[in-house]
Amino acid sequence: MVRRKPLVVVTRKLPDSVETRMRELFDAQLNLDDVPMDQAALVEAVRTADVLVPTLTDRIDSAVLSQAGENLRLIASFSNGVDHIDVASALNRGITVTNTPGVLTEDTADMTMALILAVPRRLAEGAQAVIADKDEWLGWSPTWMLGRRIWGKRLGIIGMGRIGQAVARRAKAFGLQIHYHNRRRLPTAVEEMLDATYWDSLDQMLARMDIVSINCPHTPATYHLLSARRLKLLKPEAYVVNTARGEVIDENALTRQLEAGELAGAGLDVFEHEPAVNPKLIRLAKQGKVVLLPHLGSATLEGRVDMGEKVIVNIKTFMDGHRPPDRVLPAML
Ligand code: DGY
Repeated sequence: MVRRKPLVVVTRKLPDSVETRMRELFDAQLNLDDVPMDQAALVEAVRTADVLVPTLTDRIDSAVLSQAGENLRLIASFSNGVDHIDVASALNRGITVTNTPGVLTEDTADMTMALILAVPRRLAEGAQAVIADKDEWLGWSPTWMLGRRIWGKRLGIIGMGRIGQAVARRAKAFGLQIHYHNRRRLPTAVEEMLDATYWDSLDQMLARMDIVSINCPHTPATYHLLSARRLKLLKPEAYVVNTARGEVIDENALTRQLEAGELAGAGLDVFEHEPAVNPKLIRLAKQGKVVLLPHLGSATLEGRVDMGEKVIVNIKTFMDGHRPPDRVLPAML
């Protein structure tokens, strides 16, 4: 009997080399036009596919999963985060879920560091002034466009997994003092290597930081972790950077505090209602108080190819009857 290739439905355009390999290995149904799938298209995909390859722009909720056909055994997400998938519901239906951890760590940490630098040192405003139509930049001046020094400041990292630690390594090299809050304390050897101070109490850490970086996943436990109450604990001179997920911060409360001058600024690569961006944040960006990026954390060609490779390895291993390397387990949620 000839075993048919698994039908792998991919919801978005992936790098060419990844798509080529998928075509060789699987019966791959690709989305070459990159038109995001609506709910009806996602339902059709889960009804027919053996493997679904969604990404973070697809909502694979329990309503979609309730329509899954008998063949759907694996959801191999092209993403590190899995908050777009109702994982519990998938697992209950016997569907394995995998993600792509590890390969986007360094790129995301680079982007976090870029925002840590960009906001206090006014990079976006400065770049804009040079290319502005009117003569905004009239030459070097002792008092023009002064930012705040990075070196020696306290950085509080929320979420000290792979990405948080990669941010800490970079920030240490920039002379920042590393502080962190995490579900679990790191081993002493890692703390010593990073010169990192652990805070069991997030509230106490927040009150003492100059810059706070969000590097934890979005889960039910971290939704609005930076709530209106917690944001009030921050010093008015503090900056907030988020390259994780918008939902971890109460974005309305953050915006209100920035508008009121109760926070110095924010660097955001992610938004609570992505791709919608709160118009007040856009106004604040025009005033130079925030730097906004369009979810670029992992956006390198190398990173996206590596993510695709991980997806392929997960599918191939699963189809060969083995446990895929990047299974999402309930304990991770
Ligand atoms: C992910 O894969 O979860 C990242 O947010 C992509 O940048």
